[in-house]
Amino acid sequence: MPGVPASFDAVRIGARVVVRWRLERSHEVDAQGPSMTDSVGKLVARTQGDLTVATRQGDVVIPRARIVAAKEIPPRPSRRGAAHLALSVPDLQRVMGPSWGALEREALGEWELRASRGFTQRGNSVLPVGDPGLPLSSAVDRVEAWYAVRGLPAKAVLAGPVGFDPVSDALGAELLSRGWTVADRTLTLTAATAQVAATDPGGPDVHLDPELDPRWLEAYRQSRASVPEAAPGVLRGSPRQLFASIALGGGLAQKLGLSTPGSRAPGPVAIGRLGIAHGWAGLGAVWTDPDLRGRGLAAHLTASLAAAALREGLQLMHLQVEADNDTAIRLYERLGFARHSSYVYVTRPGAG
Ligand SMILES: CC(C)(COP(=O)(O)OP(=O)(O)OC[C@H]1O[C@@H](n2cnc3c(N)ncnc32)[C@H](O)[C@@H]1OP(=O)(O)O)[C@@H](O)C(=O)NCCC(=O)NCCS
Repeated sequence: MPGVPASFDAVRIGARVVVRWRLERSHEVDAQGPSMTDSVGKLVARTQGDLTVATRQGDVVIPRARIVAAKEIPPRPSRRGAAHLALSVPDLQRVMGPSWGALEREALGEWELRASRGFTQRGNSVLPVGDPGLPLSSAVDRVEAWYAVRGLPAKAVLAGPVGFDPVSDALGAELLSRGWTVADRTLTLTAATAQVAATDPGGPDVHLDPELDPRWLEAYRQSRASVPEAAPGVLRGSPRQLFASIALGGGLAQKLGLSTPGSRAPGPVAIGRLGIAHGWAGLGAVWTDPDLRGRGLAAHLTASLAAAALREGLQLMHLQVEADNDTAIRLYERLGFARHSSYVYVTRPGAG
């Protein structure tokens, strides 16, 4: 369908995009030449009338009326290998940032401060990628003060290759010298969306919804400690998201051999979420009811989300999983995810 899709207006300034647009026959092309062109580069401005894309050849101002299609695309790969493994660790951190929501985001140079009333570590930590625009020590002072004002412990995401030592990183060394503590080593796994979709073991209907349904939220609340007033905003906080669930309807309880299906709440028994940003699909919030684990529900739900992502042209997926969650890591690796990198949370103790 021609034009600027509504979802493109959620793409942030600074994202890498491709815009296909019609050339004007009179002076931009001769009668035999192509009638359309693709501009690839960084989206630097957006008005009611046009978009500006910084391409390798310079800035291109494109009138909206001439746009045929436009979408966000992943950052340029920085190393060889499968596309999902080829981004640098900092670039993948940038990609993952908006795939999880936060109630408040503020820039500190290229760093991003996030706060969400304490709900989730991702939503309440600084993403220190790039240059904070200040000497490191002053930047950390600012981070500590920003979280103190909000009654939260200052927390940073420190990323590196799998198994990296936080103290070998300049920021890590600065934080540890201030008494911040390291915890919760997390692996970042990535995959080609097509492979995950193709590994579907099959299973019951998966309901996909771009909106956050109260029943999905109720299942999510069973899966982890939640801060009720913050969770909906965080879960809806990506440029786009997709919520998946499997419910015990349509004879599923009998098929799964459940003896007392009637005693169960009618809500979802398995859920997952995609946060879509920078042309990647970020998987999160994957959970299966403890009584129904080991029957392939999470594998089927994840593959169904991958198929949905693929239909939208999203070729790459990422997820984060705690390094000691062997069951989940096995599940994801079987679906085609591979270990890209890792990160730890470094937290200022005693503050908050
Ligand atoms: C991780 C989790 C989502 C997996 O859900 P699931 O529906 O059991 O997943 P699947 O059945 O598709 O795959 C689970 C794997 O564990 C095996 N398994 C067997 N019995 C099991 C049991 N009783 N409980 C859990 N897993 C079992 C499965 O066979 C499969 O592995 P295998 O194919 O190598 O044998 C689920 O354990 C869970 O909700 N955990 C808590 C939340 C969590 O950790 N989420 C992931 C966050 S990244």
